[in-house]
Amino acid sequence: MTQAGKSGQRTILVTGGAGYIGSHVVLQLTEAGERVVVVDDLSTGFRESVIGAELIVGNVGDRVLMAKVLREHDVDTVMHFAARTIVPESVADPLRYYGNNTCATRSLLECCRDAAVNQIVFSSTAAVYGIPEGGQAAEDTPTAPINPYGSSKLMSEWMLRDLAAAGGPRYVALRYFNVAGCDPAGRIGQSTRHATLLFKVACEAALGQRDRLSIFGTDYATVDGTGVRDYIHVADLARAHLDALAYLRGGGDSTVLNCGYGHGYSVREVLEAVGRAHGSPVPWIEQPRRAGDPPSLIAVSDRIRETLGWQPRHDDLDFIARTSLAWERKLASSAT
Ligand code: UD1
Repeated sequence: MTQAGKSGQRTILVTGGAGYIGSHVVLQLTEAGERVVVVDDLSTGFRESVIGAELIVGNVGDRVLMAKVLREHDVDTVMHFAARTIVPESVADPLRYYGNNTCATRSLLECCRDAAVNQIVFSSTAAVYGIPEGGQAAEDTPTAPINPYGSSKLMSEWMLRDLAAAGGPRYVALRYFNVAGCDPAGRIGQSTRHATLLFKVACEAALGQRDRLSIFGTDYATVDGTGVRDYIHVADLARAHLDALAYLRGGGDSTVLNCGYGHGYSVREVLEAVGRAHGSPVPWIEQPRRAGDPPSLIAVSDRIRETLGWQPRHDDLDFIARTSLAWERKLASSAT
């Protein structure tokens, strides 16, 4: 057991800990000996994805519940994942995103302030940058979201910043680029039903659970006309949260950090990687651009490496494809 896990250790609350990214973070935290409690409404998460921690089923916007959880579990750190995350859905139903993401975060922050929570690690997104010049974004690149999802997260970042300045919890906001892959040991993965994420959809198409994948847009000014993204393995992303925790515990100042590898791949390159992992090509068809999609979105990721000492271990498109496909096969076999 680590120093952190010795008795007397206070608790980390993980909101959205039954979801794709949150559950991978919970796994790494509990493996490190941390005390963790999860609050998740299971709207998109799964009970069985929470390994090694207590799950409380509820909504982070429920002030009475959250005040009780913070008090009864002696929480000093909150990792806040609970959110809606699908860009096209946010374009179609913006108020749902401002409600679930922005308003619920405001309510949670009020509870954190009242309970004297010390530190917060917040799931933000590269979508706050919109369409950055040259397709690449550093943390000081002007924020200009082009969809309600990005706006809803940016407003949450502002609340964190202003609350910290007013004596509230210190925080690290992690701006995720495109998260992909699954636990390398195959225990948990991306289980979302009706998922829209490229790797997930590509794996489903490879395994014949969909007829084909739609390539959304082939006329972008990119290497092969399709959208380019900085795909980061979920285990590396999860590790960044533990690094952020160590940083905050060490007294680090509040900060915003990009989470990406610093290079990108096109939709076609991803399909080729999934095809290689599967041993046969992924069927696809070309479709028009999808609303709210930037052509290219790649991180400048120097700051997170310097600030947290973060060292990714799975910067390998084929590894991401293999772990994604392995999980999809596991899901398929447990469904039959
Ligand atoms: C994802 C995240 C979003 C985050 C963003 C950061 C989710 C659900 N989305 O959005 O929260 O802000 O990364 O960059 O977690 N594509 C296809 N066909 C498909 C699916 C996708 O061609 O069936 C293309 C898209 O047009 C895009 C790329 O693949 O060019 C990635 O799309 P997707 O996996 O849906 O992620 P983002 O929309 O980038």
